[in-house]
Amino acid sequence: MQHKTVLLSEAVDGLRVSKNDIVVDATFGCGGHAKEIIGKLGKKGCYIGIDTDATAFNQVKLGEVIPRIHLVNDNFKNVSTILDSLNIRQVNAILADLGWRMEQFADTDKGFSFKSDGPLYMTFGDPKNYDFTAEDIINDWDEHVIADILFGYAEERFARRIAKGIVTARKVKRITSTFELVKIVENSLPKIALNKKIHPATKTFQGLRIAVNDELRVLEQFIKDGFSRLAKGGNMAIITFHSIEDRIVKLSFRELVKAGLGELKNKKPITSSEEELKANPRARSAKLRIIKKF
Ligand SMILES: C[S@@+](CC[C@H](N)C(=O)[O-])C[C@H]1O[C@@H](n2cnc3c(N)ncnc32)[C@H](O)[C@@H]1O
Repeated sequence: MQHKTVLLSEAVDGLRVSKNDIVVDATFGCGGHAKEIIGKLGKKGCYIGIDTDATAFNQVKLGEVIPRIHLVNDNFKNVSTILDSLNIRQVNAILADLGWRMEQFADTDKGFSFKSDGPLYMTFGDPKNYDFTAEDIINDWDEHVIADILFGYAEERFARRIAKGIVTARKVKRITSTFELVKIVENSLPKIALNKKIHPATKTFQGLRIAVNDELRVLEQFIKDGFSRLAKGGNMAIITFHSIEDRIVKLSFRELVKAGLGELKNKKPITSSEEELKANPRARSAKLRIIKKF
């Protein structure tokens, strides 16, 4: 299944790109927002696309492009060093569209999906570059830490039961595949929790993915460092897909406003239109927040 860009015009219009601007797109993905941004830039403009997953760049042809383009395989938490290495001090707009793209979810080698069997990595980038994978957490970390991850990063109500189930199962054999984990989660839950609309392993997978990629700390760092490189009048737009991420964006932006450094473009987050929701059900949880720097 192909990734569908979410809140395309809402996010790019919110950046208010002019033709000579320097724009950072921190989550290149399938290049959906990229193409729209590049279309607004002229010869003197500059587009910087970042993605921690190198395969993102293989899939996209940007076609006839006019501005300068830099595609950088790195984590957006390093936005400052990335800009330093390009000799860029300030930028006019920054976009981040968090999470994964459809192709990563479908990639059985990543282990993001509970719908297909694969190794339990859950890293956005190459697992070799990470300190630990989901398999390490599940097999080697303490039961109470696993429970805290599932509750703290995914608000899983049955975090303690699932952590207990994992620890019991790993005594028999090392847990190495997504389907093994799904079975353990299903066996740990009360029957009533199995009949919900969302898959019973959704939150377990979300919590582990956030922990493996250190997503929340990375996001806080990115907002702080990205905002400090934004020029006066520049906009930072962030699209989130779950409440924990959205809370971080909301609170970080609020701090910047309180410090007199910027203003919110919208009091409430921007969400998808009915039309977009019909075409792309994943968009239902998307929230866009934009801050403008003074
Ligand atoms: C939702 S997709 C972006 C889709 C893109 N905006 C588009 O329109 O095609 C998110 C992308 O961000 C990347 N990503 C996630 N966390 C990242 C991080 N910390 N640093 C850099 N890229 C990251 C993922 O690898 C994925 O390709």
